Amino acid sequence: MSTTSAVSAAEQLIERDRQLLIHPYLPGATEERVVMTEGAGCRLKDVEGREYLDATGGLWLAQIGHGRAEIAEVAARQMRRLEYFTSFWEFSNDRAIELASRLVEIAPDGLSRVYLTSGGSESNEAALRMARYFHSRRGHEGRDWILARRSAYHGIGYGSGSASGLPIYHEGFGPMLPHVRHLTPPWPYRRELFDGRDATDFCLDELERTIEDIGPEHIAAMIGEPIMGVGGMLVPPDDYWPRVRELLSAHGILLIFDEVVTAFGRTGSWFGAQHFGVEPDLIVTAKGITSGYVPLGAVLVSEPVAEMLARDHGFPVGFTYNGHPTACAVALRNLEIIEGEGLLDRAREIGDLLLRELSSLEQLPVVGEVRGVGMMLGIELVADKQSRTPISMHAARTTSSGARPASWCAIAPIPSCCRRRSSCPRRRWARWWAPCAPCSSACSPTGRSRRHDLVGAPGPPGHRRRPGRRRAPADRQPRRWPGGGLVGARAPARRRRRIRVDGAHPRRAAPAGAAGRRRHLQHAPPPAGHLGGGHQSRRARHADRRL
Ligand SMILES: Cc1ncc(COP(=O)(O)O)c(C=O)c1O
Repeated sequence: MSTTSAVSAAEQLIERDRQLLIHPYLPGATEERVVMTEGAGCRLKDVEGREYLDATGGLWLAQIGHGRAEIAEVAARQMRRLEYFTSFWEFSNDRAIELASRLVEIAPDGLSRVYLTSGGSESNEAALRMARYFHSRRGHEGRDWILARRSAYHGIGYGSGSASGLPIYHEGFGPMLPHVRHLTPPWPYRRELFDGRDATDFCLDELERTIEDIGPEHIAAMIGEPIMGVGGMLVPPDDYWPRVRELLSAHGILLIFDEVVTAFGRTGSWFGAQHFGVEPDLIVTAKGITSGYVPLGAVLVSEPVAEMLARDHGFPVGFTYNGHPTACAVALRNLEIIEGEGLLDRAREIGDLLLRELSSLEQLPVVGEVRGVGMMLGIELVADKQSRTPISMHAARTTSSGARPASWCAIAPIPSCCRRRSSCPRRRWARWWAPCAPCSSACSPTGRSRRHDLVGAPGPPGHRRRPGRRRAPADRQPRRWPGGGLVGARAPARRRRRIRVDGAHPRRAAPAGAAGRRRHLQHAPPPAGHLGGGHQSRRARHADRRL
């Protein structure tokens, strides 16, 4: 295909997208589209041929990286054998059973049963229903209340959305689920939330008062992310979850851990619960369970809850895709890869390094705090360090669509694409933005990988690039994703021309032909940095408003 016709094919596709697709969180006035067509490791390519570093593992889920052939083979093999059958009633399938066994093996003690779904919101819907149903089956009717936290994100079902503690998910959608109470999030940096007291002490007092106020006999469960992701990578103090667990147990209130983000290695453990040494009654998962190759979720359930659900006619909540054999086969292989490649250790090791190195950013006037655990890191941005005023719409640039600048940035790299320090013989990459620079070709004398400069990102919302027209440097803005990520920062055009995506100098040519180039891309050592980007706008706006 000639260059001109390739460009016009891309333009047509983009135009069709504008006409047909409804994108979450995309302001109507935004013309810009980034149509991805290929992925390998932590690199992506769009229909216009631009390259990106995936700085956030998609939406914090691509633990094993993009484009792994072994996953595609497993899916194809399973589809040829049994692509799907229902798991309702007495029906099951071998893959779902194998996956359940594996999940129970790696789960925190006490979680011995598995309920499979198709994603995070579905899993949370199921978990909330399980909690209420558990009490009702025991004869404790009226235990309906759910305790959650402000700034929490649990998905967009009416149950999970009601438990989410950000107004954007409530306003304009009619009545939410009744009997949900939102508490103060453990966010030590925001001392003003705790009346000058210790964050855990404050939160525990508030929880105790809330339980008294509602009456423990009316409360089914408390739901919480071990580390709040969408709310700003909020890491609670170490004693927060153990003390919450103790208080809830004393009142017979179930603890649901929403581990849609934190499970399967992001924090350096299989589950965030293990990081905090807590045994919840239910754990909700999705995302990293398949590294995003196919949709799947799972709720891990403790024996007493599972026993109640099995009573009489059983648990009357089923999704068509419960126990989907192909999704389960993919999840099994994905978990094998996470274990086989030591990605838990790697997430911890690289995460610690990133946190250490990123902490130097706290010297900047706009950086309030750098925090995180494993490969879940965040940078809180402030307009004024003294007062910790969040960066506001008036204090910084607004986009053409009126979107607000970030008040925090997410960094959630792909664990499989980051190498250990010790695996780099020349030890030249020890700068946080270049953890996976290939020693032989991309370590510059300064230790900085040239590959860092190769990521591309579209221009600001509303800006539509014409074929062949190069944007002025001032137009280069990082692309922000609603889940809190920066896809990449665009390289200066001059450098993009000189340096190829695999970091090699143009003189070290890829094998000829498209297949050769693809092979070259896949085999090139993965690039580095994955510096996450801005968590965007409306969520931040609402969080700010609350403050
Ligand atoms: C903690 C948490 N729970 C639930 C969800 C919802 O998952 P899904 O988008 O798969 O429905 C998300 C999504 O980002 C999440 O971060």
